[in-house]
Amino acid sequence: MGRASTPQVVDAPEARIEALLSRMTLEEKIGQLTLYGDAIRMGADKANPARHALEVQALREEIRAGRVGALFQGTGARSGREVQRLAVEDSRLHIPLLFGADVIHGMRTVFPIPLGEAASFDPELARRTARAAAREATALGIKWTFAPMVDIARDQRWGRVSEGAGEDVYLGSLLAAARVRGFQGSSVAAPDALLACPKHFAAYGAVSAGMDYNTVDLSLVTLWQTYLPPFKAAFDAGALTTMSAFNEINGVPATANPWLLGTVLHERWGFKGFVVSDYTADEELVKHGFAADARDAARLAFNAGVDMSMQSGLYQKYLPGLVRSGAVTMARIDEAVRRVLTVKQALGLFDAPYASLDPDAEQRIGDEQTTRLAREAAQRAVVLLRNDHGLLPLRRAGQRIALIGPFASGRDELFGPWTLYGDESRAVDLATGLRAALADPASLIVVHGSRVESPLPGGIAAAVAAARQSDVVLLAVGESTGMSGEAQSRTEITIPAPQLALAQAVARTGKPLVVLLRNGRALALNGAVRDAPAILVTWFLGSQAGNAIADILFGKVAPSGHLPVSFPVESGQEPFYYDHKSTGRPSPERGDVAFTARYRTTGNLALYPFGHGLTYSPLRIDSLRLDSAQLPWDGRLVVHARVVNAGQRDAVALPQLYIHDRVASLTRPVRELKGFRQVKVAAGASSDVEFELTRADLAFVGADLERRAEPGWFDVWVGLSSTQGPGSAFELLAPGAVVPPAAAAHN
Ligand code: NOJ
Repeated sequence: MGRASTPQVVDAPEARIEALLSRMTLEEKIGQLTLYGDAIRMGADKANPARHALEVQALREEIRAGRVGALFQGTGARSGREVQRLAVEDSRLHIPLLFGADVIHGMRTVFPIPLGEAASFDPELARRTARAAAREATALGIKWTFAPMVDIARDQRWGRVSEGAGEDVYLGSLLAAARVRGFQGSSVAAPDALLACPKHFAAYGAVSAGMDYNTVDLSLVTLWQTYLPPFKAAFDAGALTTMSAFNEINGVPATANPWLLGTVLHERWGFKGFVVSDYTADEELVKHGFAADARDAARLAFNAGVDMSMQSGLYQKYLPGLVRSGAVTMARIDEAVRRVLTVKQALGLFDAPYASLDPDAEQRIGDEQTTRLAREAAQRAVVLLRNDHGLLPLRRAGQRIALIGPFASGRDELFGPWTLYGDESRAVDLATGLRAALADPASLIVVHGSRVESPLPGGIAAAVAAARQSDVVLLAVGESTGMSGEAQSRTEITIPAPQLALAQAVARTGKPLVVLLRNGRALALNGAVRDAPAILVTWFLGSQAGNAIADILFGKVAPSGHLPVSFPVESGQEPFYYDHKSTGRPSPERGDVAFTARYRTTGNLALYPFGHGLTYSPLRIDSLRLDSAQLPWDGRLVVHARVVNAGQRDAVALPQLYIHDRVASLTRPVRELKGFRQVKVAAGASSDVEFELTRADLAFVGADLERRAEPGWFDVWVGLSSTQGPGSAFELLAPGAVVPPAAAAHN
């Protein structure tokens, strides 16, 4: 069939959709609510368990019949045109397909894992990398990404910590919004705009005991205070879809939760887009013990507000009968279809279904600008935890360097757990990056010494010999790609024992040791790794990992990253995060104080706290001043701080503003991040920074689930991490109260 019977183009978008809707059969409507893996192009889906995959020919027929509205995980502009043609040319109503995929932190060019990028504390960087990912993804025909993942993650055992922005709601919300803006660009209708899908709605990051897919049991106050704000920020930034999470929340699975998907999302927040289930999450309602059978699951998910079903085929199978029986109304069907079509319309798919399926656009993949950005993003993600006696930066010449560890070389461990399309052939591993930076590439000796989780025969002896011949040792140890990400929760967040044995043996040579951690989460460091004089967190940095680490090691670029997750002393402290409550018997700052909130063998402090990150110059905040000790109810208060660089190198500092509400109607965390700034501070100089606080910054979710600020005293600090910095205090005055004339600046 040609395009002769294309519905008349009606000017007003709503009218066009209504006209289309009026012509659709129930089966075609349900087709728009059905999403399948793109078996035509991808072969097997490597990211998900094999379930319900359609045969290639069957899928083609389904598309022609209008029984599928969207596909995911297929790539290629040329091949995409062929698949799109099945819908646009061959189906009765010519409704274009929407092509989705998991484009989490880059496409062919891979940027640092989102957790690593969060260490930059730079939303603008996150926006830029998301934009670059969108440009490459759309060049390959992808129009919709299942990202950003905006789940707050406070238990580092959870493997999916790597995909998000870490433990903090303030930073997480800024990054969520920035990533949406980056993916979608200035107009979702542009050919290089990638529709965003903040996920997993909601509270997936709160899975009990950090075990993936586990139950979520949390107070509504915490849900509103901590887990929902990044979603709200993402929707406010224009995200038009969201993915319903696998988990239940307080007994009701997110994928069948009318309160979450209806009352909160649509009624309270005015969300105008559509909800897609996570992969077979509707079908899983049966195993949850929430739905009696698959038909019941389809009914519950759909009526709760899941507009599109991913992969299970449940809607196709059961919605027709459910409509006939009256268990699902036609009005609800039309509502869901309208939402999906409205998004397709907003993307410009009706007018230009092939606009993002342009084979010529593939030229923009891996261009110089994107490669440079990958290097910059990787540099910015690195966190210097420790640098005793200024061991770093290293000299580029005049010494032998041993690079030891399972991550010393190889391109297969650079991208991290959530990269489906990265171009490994262009990736730069550690050994290659270091050699390129050294005056004499032959001054680098590379020895693996151990596998990631098992010893390498003769490995330790070879590593020790290499260390002995060298002046300094770089030890690349940590977690492999397979140890974090989906379904990869860990009970111990430590470096595997064979690598620790390697570290121990190498440390015994007495050579200066620089640890380069490869990790998808915060780790509990121990042994020779913990005790090394210099430690860098290098996450999974992506395509330019080797170059970026070399830039940092040799001081071409000074480290500027800060931890977006707290590093505990031991795994058993998890869930562990800086903005915890005080308790009635607060954790002692140091030492063994009986009858306080601590463990028998370990206090409850961080080894490296949230916000920590050194650079090559010693920085400190040396003064803090408030312009008033009183903040009027409708007023503002300015916090002034001075950052001092006492060293010999220019630096970028990250002064962070934290507050603490001393007394409130609900207990408040010991500290909460409310602002941060990137500040350049020249060697030997200082820079002044200002933060402004208003009542809105002091508000919290009360027992009635409304945000409120309460008059009273607040502590305030500006520090270079969540546990330090000079502090002061101010009072939020009650409405109508005036600042006493005598109130002067409070230091
Ligand atoms: C399951 C994951 O939870 C989700 O994040 C992902 O987008 C889908 N699979 C599709 O691959």
